Amino acid sequence: MKKSPNFNGIANAYSWMEKLTFGKSLARCRLALLGDLLHSHNALVIGDGDGRFTARLLEANPAVLVDALDASPAMLRALVDNAGIRASRVRVHVADARLWEPLVPRLDLIATHFFLDCLTTNEVASLAKRLRVAARPDAKWVVSEFAIPEGAFGSIVARPLIMALYIAFAVLTGLRVFRLPDHRTALSQAGFMLAKQRRFLHGLLVSELWTIAPTSTVQQP
Ligand SMILES: C[S@@+](CC[C@H](N)C(=O)[O-])C[C@H]1O[C@@H](n2cnc3c(N)ncnc32)[C@H](O)[C@@H]1O
Repeated sequence: MKKSPNFNGIANAYSWMEKLTFGKSLARCRLALLGDLLHSHNALVIGDGDGRFTARLLEANPAVLVDALDASPAMLRALVDNAGIRASRVRVHVADARLWEPLVPRLDLIATHFFLDCLTTNEVASLAKRLRVAARPDAKWVVSEFAIPEGAFGSIVARPLIMALYIAFAVLTGLRVFRLPDHRTALSQAGFMLAKQRRFLHGLLVSELWTIAPTSTVQQP
C-alpha cells in the first residue's frame, strides 16, 4: 500500500488554484447532478477537498447527514468551515479511503468528485466493493472525473493536460498515481450501473450518476 498523498499544504490555496486553471468548469461538473441528490439521507462524501460540494449538498438537501472522509485533516477543517451553520450535519473521518471500512451500512448516497483519479483501478475496485456492501438498494453514487475523449482533442489536449496535472500533484502532495483509473469497469464489476452522464469541456470532464444494478447482490470484499 502506497503512502497517503498529503494535500494539507494546498488546502487553503485549493479553491483559487482550481479557478486559475479551470475557471468555473470543475464547479459546474461537481454540481451538475445535484438535483438528483435532494432525497438522500445518509451520504458518504470521499475526498471532497475543501468541501464546496458538501456545502452545496447540505444547503440543497436539508435532510441529509454527511460522513466526510479524507486523508487530509486540513482539507476536512476547510470542509467544516465551508459547511457553516450546517456543519452540525457533518461527521468527519480522517482516513485513507483505500483502507477505510464504512461504519454505517445504510448509505443512500456516495459522492466522489475528482477523487477516484487519486487511486489506481485496483484501488477503486476494492473501494467500490466495500461501498457496495454498505450501500442501500436505492443508493446513488455521484462521480466527477477527468476523461480522455476519443479523437484529436483527447490525444493532443486532454492526455498531456492530465499528465501535467498528475506531475503537479506528485510534486505538491506526493501523489504516486499517474494515469486515470478505469473507474467505470471497477464500479460496474462491484454492482453499480451508470444511470446518467454529462460531459463538459469537450469531454475532458464527466459527471456521472451510478445506481445499484438490478442484478447486483452484495459480495463480501
Ligand atoms: C484532487 S483533490 C479533489 C478535491 C475535491 N473533491 C474536488 O472536487 O476538487 C483529492 C482529495 O482527496 C483526498 N485524498 C486523496 N487520496 C486520498 C486517499 N487515499 N484517502 C482519502 N482521501 C484522499 C485529498 O486529501 C483531497 O482532499
